[in-house]
Amino acid sequence: MDYLKAIEKRVSTRNYLGIGIDKEKLSVLTDEIDDGNKKFGLSISFLEDGSNAFNTFGKSYGMFKGVRSLIVMKGPQNDIHLKEKLGYVGEKVILKATSLGLGTCWVGGSFERQNPIFAVSEGEEFVCVITIGIVAEKKSLIGNVINKIKRPKAIEAFYTSDNAVPDWFIAGINAVQKAPSARNSQKVQFSYNDCIVRASVPDSYRFDLVDLGIAKLHFELAAGGSFSLGNNSKFQR
Ligand SMILES: Cc1cc2nc3c(=O)[nH]c(=O)nc-3n(C[C@H](O)[C@H](O)[C@H](O)COP(=O)(O)O)c2cc1C
Repeated sequence: MDYLKAIEKRVSTRNYLGIGIDKEKLSVLTDEIDDGNKKFGLSISFLEDGSNAFNTFGKSYGMFKGVRSLIVMKGPQNDIHLKEKLGYVGEKVILKATSLGLGTCWVGGSFERQNPIFAVSEGEEFVCVITIGIVAEKKSLIGNVINKIKRPKAIEAFYTSDNAVPDWFIAGINAVQKAPSARNSQKVQFSYNDCIVRASVPDSYRFDLVDLGIAKLHFELAAGGSFSLGNNSKFQR
């Protein structure tokens, strides 16, 4: 699949038709989830009907409409890289879903987190969800406003460098500029010093490390290479 095309096309969807996803598409997505779980020791699950946590009067009222299916982002509580891994794997699933024509949105706050459908096993931590489904034409009231007021930071605001940066680095930063982030804060910073690339985030907000995993994935896909796990870790091309 063409990840770069999906990066260009992806946008958070907050209005869905409220119906299930095709069998074939679903199997592509669950394969991707299974791969991520195996590779990173996570327990992300697909929830066919999580509407209960979204469509009642409450935190998500006016912001989300017609939510049905969710990807429940969770894994071992004692994994110090849990949030970063969830960001990385979840965003890969999102890009796959985008290429299949589905809408998605990372959601950390605006839903009923305490709903029993999110109960976890002993030693597990539930971090956030991804809404996923068929996009409805008409946008939700607040979703519409959020999409309209969204202003990405300038490319130069995403990195520092001690020298001229290569084209592949700029390609990576361009892809990071299009990445989703909690509250659209776009806090993940890249550096290019002595020809070494690093990515870091302040880790002052509960979803900063999820944003780190998302940003690293976007950078890798466009620049070609991979980061090691951790805040301020190195990139290998
Ligand atoms: C970890 C994380 C948590 C998020 N939580 C919420 C949320 O609770 N409610 C919401 O409407 N959007 C949420 N978002 C979506 C962001 O608001 C959205 O990605 C950002 O505004 C950029 O817009 P875009 O995804 O359309 O490019 C979240 C995004 C991330 C990465």
